[in-house]
Amino acid sequence: MTDTLFRLDGQAAIVTGGGRGLGRAMALALAGAGADSVVVARREDDLAQTVAAVQALGRQCHAVAGDVADPATATHAVEAAVREYGRLDILVNNAGAYAMGPTEATELEVWHRILEVNLTGSFLFAKAVIPVLKAAGRGKIINLASILGRTGVAEAAAYCTAKGGVILFTRSLAAELAPHGIHVNAIAPGLFNTDMSAGVFDNPAFLEQIMAGIPRGQHGEPEDLAGTVVYLASAASDHLIGQTLHVDGGSSIA
Ligand SMILES: NC(=O)c1ccc[n+]([C@@H]2O[C@H](COP(=O)([O-])OP(=O)(O)OC[C@H]3O[C@@H](n4cnc5c(N)ncnc54)[C@H](OP(=O)(O)O)[C@@H]3O)[C@@H](O)[C@H]2O)c1
Repeated sequence: MTDTLFRLDGQAAIVTGGGRGLGRAMALALAGAGADSVVVARREDDLAQTVAAVQALGRQCHAVAGDVADPATATHAVEAAVREYGRLDILVNNAGAYAMGPTEATELEVWHRILEVNLTGSFLFAKAVIPVLKAAGRGKIINLASILGRTGVAEAAAYCTAKGGVILFTRSLAAELAPHGIHVNAIAPGLFNTDMSAGVFDNPAFLEQIMAGIPRGQHGEPEDLAGTVVYLASAASDHLIGQTLHVDGGSSIA
């Protein structure tokens, strides 16, 4: 039984922010477990690279270019999954945006945008997939939070607020959808080496400070999320509802 517990053969996923970074790594992990995917981001060249990488693993992948804050993008992604694969099983709400700076200097547009991409985008995609998952009587929704959505840090109020919102959105949605066989959980990554965290990796003193707080002694690489996303997308996690898994080398336990 355990040899098929983590398999996703024949299933179909939507991965937002699948153009690069953690989203691309998770699309590849899902493909490795047998799932086809629709990847969503704004940059078509990035999406084309993810499509080629998934196809190289022998699975299908289609790109939908668009902004996750636009409701039409979610509609297009669901239509693409149903048209290309005839089904939809998994949503990974991964697209995210980060901003730093003192709160009094944060423009209202920036505040709105960070909430819109990280939180409202997750709502819009969940809203779009729920009818399809309900009709199937099963499904998995995986939201990307952050350890910063749990602890809060100075000068990242919009991002921390948005990610804290993602954690509560996950719990609320999980309670609402579990009776329909739809399982909702979140991943809260610690520091991972992607474009989003370039500002940390380009600042040796800041990087050293963060590394000192990671018990494992190393930051994450995108591939370090592979096991977690396959677990949350598969039958292996069927009794896990509304949880946020901190994948952070232990930084959140300190
Ligand atoms: N890296 C970390 O250390 C870290 C830690 C904790 C949590 N996270 C979270 O993990 C997720 C992935 O982060 P990452 O590090 O992989 O980021 P990344 O390297 O910046 O990649 C973000 C992806 O999301 C897409 N995206 C951004 N804004 C979008 C929008 N408005 N509409 C559609 N797509 C959009 C980007 O493509 P386009 O720009 O082409 O649209 C890109 O494909 C995010 O939710 C992030 O907050 C990351």
